[in-house]
Amino acid sequence: MENKQVVIPQFGEPEVLSIRQAAIPSAKAGEVVVKVAFAAVNPIDVKTRAGLGWAAAQNKDNLPWVLGYDISGEVYQCGSDVQQLEVGDKVAGFIGFPLQGGGYSQYVTVAESALSAVPESVTLEAAAALPLAGQTAVQALDKASVQEGQRVLILAGAGGVGHIAVQLAVAAKAEVFTTCSEANLDYLATLGAHAVNYRFSPASERVEEADVLIDLVGGEAALDALKCLKDGAKVVTLPTLSAELICEKAHLLGFDATGMLVDPNPQQLDTMLYMVSIGLLKTEIYHIYPMDQVVEAHKQMETGHTRGKILLDMQC
Ligand SMILES: NC(=O)c1ccc[n+]([C@@H]2O[C@H](COP(=O)([O-])OP(=O)(O)OC[C@H]3O[C@@H](n4cnc5c(N)ncnc54)[C@H](OP(=O)(O)O)[C@@H]3O)[C@@H](O)[C@H]2O)c1
Repeated sequence: MENKQVVIPQFGEPEVLSIRQAAIPSAKAGEVVVKVAFAAVNPIDVKTRAGLGWAAAQNKDNLPWVLGYDISGEVYQCGSDVQQLEVGDKVAGFIGFPLQGGGYSQYVTVAESALSAVPESVTLEAAAALPLAGQTAVQALDKASVQEGQRVLILAGAGGVGHIAVQLAVAAKAEVFTTCSEANLDYLATLGAHAVNYRFSPASERVEEADVLIDLVGGEAALDALKCLKDGAKVVTLPTLSAELICEKAHLLGFDATGMLVDPNPQQLDTMLYMVSIGLLKTEIYHIYPMDQVVEAHKQMETGHTRGKILLDMQC
């Protein structure tokens, strides 16, 4: 039995991504081995592969390194002291974040406490799409204390984080505005948002008096979106590269602004999985690539125009 993993032997273009064979790991006390069905691709994977950001800086002497933080699959082996999970259970998790990674593996050890059980009615594809992106959406909306009746502007509503954030904000009975290109206008309208085509006009020409800005784009788009806000509005900006600049400008304008780093929280994943199971939340899967097509998966992510999530099928 083999355990194929996608590794970065050195930083660089997508073509550096390689597949290696490793041994199937053994579960220690409190851990399980997960046979991974799907691993999701996130922007941080692409950034780290390219040698950018702090996950790359911290792992530069630790190559080859296995990327990946989002997994779904089946429990393959239980270590001692595992309380709830059994071999064969369907699970999902946001694992090894930020420094360990390891999700782009066919088998990986995970602490039982870091995993969520996947309900019978939820597919493993949907479960793999949720961990990092979904928890980012939950935590960003929490930080902004989004309330019923508020006007919430979410930049990039069609992306991995955005499509979950839009649905959660709509579920919280906020009035949701979002930005996207023409191809995603109808999609976001079906999720219950007022969608603005950012290529046609900037958000500031179409949205006013917003109570909250969730910025998933950064840079110029975020600076423009500050003009959409009412006095005392809250801003949560996610792209780390421009967070300092956006917060500085937002503070000057009198807004309550903060950057954020997502923090793994299995209870939040439990809640989202439950919402999916009762039809309150839908994951959008743009494409599933066999693991040996990971180079194409990273190239698609780098376009910056993926609707929803990209997954790797780890068992084919
Ligand atoms: N700090 C943290 O903890 C944290 C956690 C997660 C993510 N992030 C960051 O948050 C950002 C979003 O992450 P993600 O996973 O959602 O990325 P993603 O899935 O790659 O986002 C792709 C989406 O961005 C949209 N988009 C691209 N340019 C746009 C623009 N100028 N205006 C509006 N929409 C635009 C695209 O829609 P169209 O095709 O319609 O343009 C596409 O659907 C990334 O920068 C990521 O690194 C930070």
